[in-house]
Amino acid sequence: MSILVTGGAGYIGSHVVRLLQEKGHRVTVIDNLSSGYSGRIGAAKLVELDLAAEAATATLVELIKSESITSVIHLAARKQVGESVTKPEWYFEQNIGGMAHLLEAMRQTKVDKLVFSSSAATYGMPDTDFVNEDFECKPINPYGQTKLIGEWMTANAARAWGLRAVNLRYFNVAGAGWPELADTATMNLVPIVFAALDAGKSPVVFGTDYDTADGTCVRDYVHVLDLAEAHVTSLDYLDRDTRDHSTFNVGTGKGASVFEVLAEIKRVTKIDFEIDLQPRRPGDPPYLCADVSRIKGHLGWTAKRDLAEIIESAWSARQASS
Ligand code: UFG
Repeated sequence: MSILVTGGAGYIGSHVVRLLQEKGHRVTVIDNLSSGYSGRIGAAKLVELDLAAEAATATLVELIKSESITSVIHLAARKQVGESVTKPEWYFEQNIGGMAHLLEAMRQTKVDKLVFSSSAATYGMPDTDFVNEDFECKPINPYGQTKLIGEWMTANAARAWGLRAVNLRYFNVAGAGWPELADTATMNLVPIVFAALDAGKSPVVFGTDYDTADGTCVRDYVHVLDLAEAHVTSLDYLDRDTRDHSTFNVGTGKGASVFEVLAEIKRVTKIDFEIDLQPRRPGDPPYLCADVSRIKGHLGWTAKRDLAEIIESAWSARQASS
């Protein structure tokens, strides 16, 4: 297959690209290189493009035709929750505007298979531990809203012109599938803790008084390579004539608290660090884990790697990239 991956030079995108290449697919990457690196995509063709730019649809149409693209995996998006709160208009322009151009180009070229990178941020603050896909989505920030609207856009395109789409709601992604594909941004717990350790500082824990077993927030940490495999499985699913669902959680179905993640980091790094206990960070749900029965039942996908493998792979990739 000839597959277009938007955001393919990013941390998650580059894992998807590498896996597709290993399976013998031809891959074309679109990335604006705002947080991605061209060195991550191997022999894939790279087109530097901001999907939200006015001329993007025409460029996409030409590219889809010239590369004989048959399917699209759409990951390109702005993804910083805090930034989305301060710059909401820009988040809508970038994430929704970019996606509208992509869908229009797919419609014009009759490319009808799309895997869309959605997020557990669509749920907001669910009052349940293991959330399933039918739970009412009430995103609490513009980032999560753009992901939910993206899901609506795929549903509308399915009705209007027959798009086949899978929306993957990622939970907390971490780890590395290859040493050179580390998460080099310091936006999430694991890389933030590594950066603190590099700087000789104490990692910070936001909130120790939650109603959870050890008082810290619980999340569902999924290995980035498992997540990449879910994309490949989704492409196969899109070839089926009958598909009962288009939205799937991607997690492990197991929670880990912030203290448990830090304990694992201590074990793997062998660094005996102190912890800086801070008050709660606004907007953090105490517990956000995936009910994974739908993706298991309908796609046959389950996460194969556990928290130990996530932290071990993340740490060795960080060592390799520093
Ligand atoms: N945390 C700390 N200290 C830190 C950083 C984070 O204690 O220095 C805590 C947070 O308070 C939270 C947990 O670690 O309880 C995980 O925080 P992250 O910022 O790594 O991740 P979030 O769960 O807040 O959000 C992530 C992604 C979102 C996505 C969401 C979906 O960043 O894009 O998962 O579950 F939408």
